[in-house]
Amino acid sequence: MRSDAWLAGDDEVALNHRAALRQAGTGRPLIGIACTASDLNRCDRGLTELAEAVRAGVLSAGGLPLAFPVMSLSEDLMAPTAMMYRNLLAIEVEETIRSQPMDGIVALGNCDKTVPAYLMALASADIPALLVTGGFRVPVTFRGERLGSGTSLWRYDDERRAGRLGDADWARLETCLGQGLGACNTMGTASTMAIMAETLGMMLPGSAVAATGDPRLKASAEAAGRRIVAMAAAGNRPSAVLTEAGFGNAIAALAAIGGSTNAIIHLCAVAGRRAIRLPLRRFADASAAVPVIADISPVGAGLMPDLAAAGGVPALLAEIAPHLDLAVPSAAGPPLGDLLAGARRQGGAIRPIDTPVTSEPTFTVVHGNLAPDGAVIKTAAASPALLRHRGRAIVFHSYTEMRDRIDDPALDVTPDSVLVLAGCGPVGAAMPEWGMIPIPRKLLDQGVTDMLRISDARMSGTSFGTVVLHVAPESAIGGPLARLRDGDVISLDATVGELTAEVGPAVLAAREPVLPPITDLRGWPLLHRQHVTQAPEGCDYDFLQARTPSEVRFAEPVIGRS
Ligand code: FES
Repeated sequence: MRSDAWLAGDDEVALNHRAALRQAGTGRPLIGIACTASDLNRCDRGLTELAEAVRAGVLSAGGLPLAFPVMSLSEDLMAPTAMMYRNLLAIEVEETIRSQPMDGIVALGNCDKTVPAYLMALASADIPALLVTGGFRVPVTFRGERLGSGTSLWRYDDERRAGRLGDADWARLETCLGQGLGACNTMGTASTMAIMAETLGMMLPGSAVAATGDPRLKASAEAAGRRIVAMAAAGNRPSAVLTEAGFGNAIAALAAIGGSTNAIIHLCAVAGRRAIRLPLRRFADASAAVPVIADISPVGAGLMPDLAAAGGVPALLAEIAPHLDLAVPSAAGPPLGDLLAGARRQGGAIRPIDTPVTSEPTFTVVHGNLAPDGAVIKTAAASPALLRHRGRAIVFHSYTEMRDRIDDPALDVTPDSVLVLAGCGPVGAAMPEWGMIPIPRKLLDQGVTDMLRISDARMSGTSFGTVVLHVAPESAIGGPLARLRDGDVISLDATVGELTAEVGPAVLAAREPVLPPITDLRGWPLLHRQHVTQAPEGCDYDFLQARTPSEVRFAEPVIGRS
């Protein structure tokens, strides 16, 4: 066992290490239990109870549970964006593993960035590991409809800005959205990444899709505690499941669920830790091959409880089995094909593969002189009529400028205009979810509900609309958006994957790029800006990626007197 390097032997170093653990007990597999529970993060607050269930499972299987808190990444509250801290959590977990005598780990997280951060850390540390997530919020009814986290708020915000939602309803909406603990109950990034983790074999089967408080979550957490002890004894490592084939399965599942665009970035980052490259083309190809069959908002009509009722991940994967490599191993032990043997759809929220939710693919990737390294559209949540579009640009070079101008009655905007938000990529602004630029109020008043929008930012998995995201290279490092001006004609043809500014290369080159202001000159924001990679590389830090298989190796510490 890995912990023998700390605990075995007769010298003063081993004795001291055993003494440090004596109150807890030694002589058993040491299982770390990482948990992001925090009062600052309502999505993860319910994890404390599940961590206790994991502890009970570890004990019952003969292991020694060693719980430790880690940074909590709250999508709701963190500014400028939790994305700035995803890699910090990944570093914290990887370095805690490196420096401590752990034979295995169960990592509990829920909100958007926690699962990807854990997967990145575990891909690098490569000790036996399982994830446990905390489930989704139970939907609350408002004005006769179940509120979908994020998605409903964006719709009602448009209603309010158009003057169709009064102050009383706006206040009541706040109380409704404030109900309950757990992750967003739409196919947001948290739901998407939990499904990715289960598909990758990093969670126990059937545990990724359940309501917070569902007793089955507690049972799964306890089972994870038992299972990790066996995995530690057997030496089952993440590297066995985080493979080309495993990521291929995850990308197919991502297409089938109409998942969050953020998952593209996160999967690229996780794969990058194992020296596996996931070109954007793979996501587009999978989307073309695997239709959206999960009828969950914002692509579909349902919410996550409906997906749970329909059988969750096993039923979904069973439906797309022809697109999967069923021989890949899993956290549960048997290969994926064995796990899916008895699974099948149990309700309408998982459609038969030949009658999908939409004929549009989940994602389309576009290239062109505005996005030489690519950009992404969530086609399944876009307006088909706008997927081939030509219009004049209105360019905002910062979020502040956009907020200042977007509702200005003097804004020279028509429904055919193309709204562009630059300066918001990984280097420029840590890539917040600002890409779903609000429809200008004067157009909302005319009944306009969607426009072509383009940004180097991300958007929430709960968002919708015709939005070109993750434009690379971003404007802060001299990408083409920095040289775009109001009035430039932009054409998009998503059907052939092209995004073009009808501006000659000489004209573009002669323009002074507009770069976002740099305000953070020290600390974490500075480190982030200096090392973050572009979206197609996963926005990991350059010193954390493994560019070659030889860079994958996890260096164990020298163990002696500390
Ligand atoms: Fe935490 Fe959506 S805000 S999961």
